[in-house]
Amino acid sequence: MTFGAVTADGRARVLADGHQMPILGLGIWQVPDGAECVNAVRWALDLGYRHIDTAQAYGNEESVGQALRDSGVPRQEVFVTTKFYPGRRKDPVAEAEKSLRRLGVDQVDLYLIHWPAGGPTWAWPGMERARELGLARSIGVSNFSAGELEDVIAAGTIPPAVNQVQFSPREYRRALLEACQQQKVAVVAYSPLGTGRHLADKTVDRIARRTGRTPAQVLLRWCLQHDLLVIPKSTHRERIAENAQIFDFALSGEDMAELDALDRTNGTDRALERKWWR
Ligand code: A2P
Repeated sequence: MTFGAVTADGRARVLADGHQMPILGLGIWQVPDGAECVNAVRWALDLGYRHIDTAQAYGNEESVGQALRDSGVPRQEVFVTTKFYPGRRKDPVAEAEKSLRRLGVDQVDLYLIHWPAGGPTWAWPGMERARELGLARSIGVSNFSAGELEDVIAAGTIPPAVNQVQFSPREYRRALLEACQQQKVAVVAYSPLGTGRHLADKTVDRIARRTGRTPAQVLLRWCLQHDLLVIPKSTHRERIAENAQIFDFALSGEDMAELDALDRTNGTDRALERKWWR
């Protein structure tokens, strides 16, 4: 199958490297290591999620590993993403090995450079090496603008399969999405609910009432209809369940246009309005 194609069950997309990635995943940014994280991941797996998105910087990889083992879901059925912490210019290979030990797995499905600290290209050879060594099945980036993505593609042997960025109707980075699509880089939307802030938006609420869905479902469905993959975060079982009910309805062209118009980035090709690194 070609890049971007949706699998027959409607639940995964094909990456440019040929591997499949579930469209829905659980985000666990800011969930501390321990029972809260283990429970959230366990509930997600019980409720049918097949992608868990963690990172070295989150400090909760051990809980993800614990929940994976406790769940009884076969390892090969769960897509695990982790991210290289680029803060102190460490070696992506050595850091991947540590992640695998914490997660208790032989390989992650996706390994991303968490953000382009110190420039977009220096860590990429190490990411490629991690892939060659079988530590990661696919590799990619996160928080990369269109220009940074171009740089890493020009410098590398293989292109990133994924760019994970903050994306929602209010952060509708149209030019970045188009650049990624042109380069066959799948876009994963983090903070698709605006870390909860967009749930109270009037337009979102109106469309939720019109469609008989919840605001969270409307925001996530908007992402799906823009061909994005999504990783909403929640530590509440009922919300984790609610956020998975997004494959059985569609937003109309009018709904989509109203949501598109909420963009406050002016259709930017940047990944963030403000960088938190130098
Ligand atoms: P909690 O983890 O307490 O359930 P985002 O995915 O954009 O980062 O948003 C995550 C935030 O939105 C979290 O604060 C989470 O709270 C909240 N949240 C996630 N799903 C829902 C939902 N279905 N309804 C209300 N709030 C939600």
